[in-house]
Amino acid sequence: MVYPIFVYGSPVLRKVANEIDKNYPKLNEFIENMFETMQKSDGIGLAAPQIGESIRLFVINGAPWAEDDESLRYFKKTFINAKIYERSGDDNIYNEGCLSLPGIREEITRKSKIKISYYDENFELHDEEFDGLKARVIQHEYDHIDGILLIDHLPPLKRKLLKRRLTDISKGIVDVSYKIKAPK
Ligand code: CO
Repeated sequence: MVYPIFVYGSPVLRKVANEIDKNYPKLNEFIENMFETMQKSDGIGLAAPQIGESIRLFVINGAPWAEDDESLRYFKKTFINAKIYERSGDDNIYNEGCLSLPGIREEITRKSKIKISYYDENFELHDEEFDGLKARVIQHEYDHIDGILLIDHLPPLKRKLLKRRLTDISKGIVDVSYKIKAPK
């Protein structure tokens, strides 16, 4: 099942999401639907709050970026109750977009390396280190479960310039190829 994507202005995108346990109802089905929704909207990452569920879960499928980075081809993962406990390396700049901010792309600075612990879809615990585009996408999705959006990383002036477009997005006035749910 493909869910509509909640866009900017939706209160759920601003909440600190809750941890879940393995008894979360219909977890497998939910994860499957997350991947399907992400694929339909040409995203490479999707966090549960973006489909209206305030839980600490996000999915990533790097395959569409495999031409830029071959190691992303089979980078398909579910992150549950993730904790980034270390960010290190250089400050990297990358042009990021977000399914909840259709039409907006901005240069965002993030650390190049992270260490993260998380549960996978079978509730097995992992502790791993990621760098490059993987660290980039994970940090973006991780922000979502803390109620943070990419525009929060912009200097105030740049953010001000986006105000009109953000208001339009919150009203659903935006050209977008996937199904969205606007708050107004
Ligand atoms: Co996003």
